[in-house]
Amino acid sequence: MKPLIVANWKMNPGSLPEAKKLFSLTKKRAVICPPFVYLAHLRANGAQDCFWEEKGAYTGEISPQMLKRLGVKYVIVGHSERRKYQKETDKIIEKKLRAVLRAGLKPILCLDKISQLPKDIKRGFVVAYEPLFAIGTGKACSPERAERMRRAIKKKVGVPVLYGGSVNSKNARDYIKKARFDGLLVGGASLKAKEFIDIIEAVC
Ligand code: PGA
Repeated sequence: MKPLIVANWKMNPGSLPEAKKLFSLTKKRAVICPPFVYLAHLRANGAQDCFWEEKGAYTGEISPQMLKRLGVKYVIVGHSERRKYQKETDKIIEKKLRAVLRAGLKPILCLDKISQLPKDIKRGFVVAYEPLFAIGTGKACSPERAERMRRAIKKKVGVPVLYGGSVNSKNARDYIKKARFDGLLVGGASLKAKEFIDIIEAVC
């Protein structure tokens, strides 16, 4: 199967014209998760987060159903930056995971420990293993270490497992071919069109 490549733009780029340009260069071959304000303009197929209710008095929040109506297919939940800055707990993340599944969308659950897997949901989602030390640091995890974690996750849940954390065009292939991940979650390198296309070409 073709690896699943997901771009997490985080809070970038700074303007809609830049977002449109980057999107037009890379959209066809990956799931692109832009900031919410660009989603409707781009008709992107991925989102970086969502709330767990469908609608109501929840200031500042966006529901999975709203995302679905825009054509979104994948929603990242539990990214380490949300765990850190928004203080999201495993309990909150599990509520989001369930809400995304209820809406008929595919959650991408980010984690760096096996204990962060949901206890009684065994399918329907994608896991992204992202070791904390590797996120945004340029210090990617060794493929051997990453593979051990991939195997441990696969023992618990029969779902696709992505690797994320300082992926670039030089190391991307190792995570797919050596460590046998089902795809990649790419942050910083997904903001540079050429580098991101090189990553896709290295693994597909
Ligand atoms: P990075 O981010 O590729 O910049 O390390 C990955 C992520 O946070 O999803």
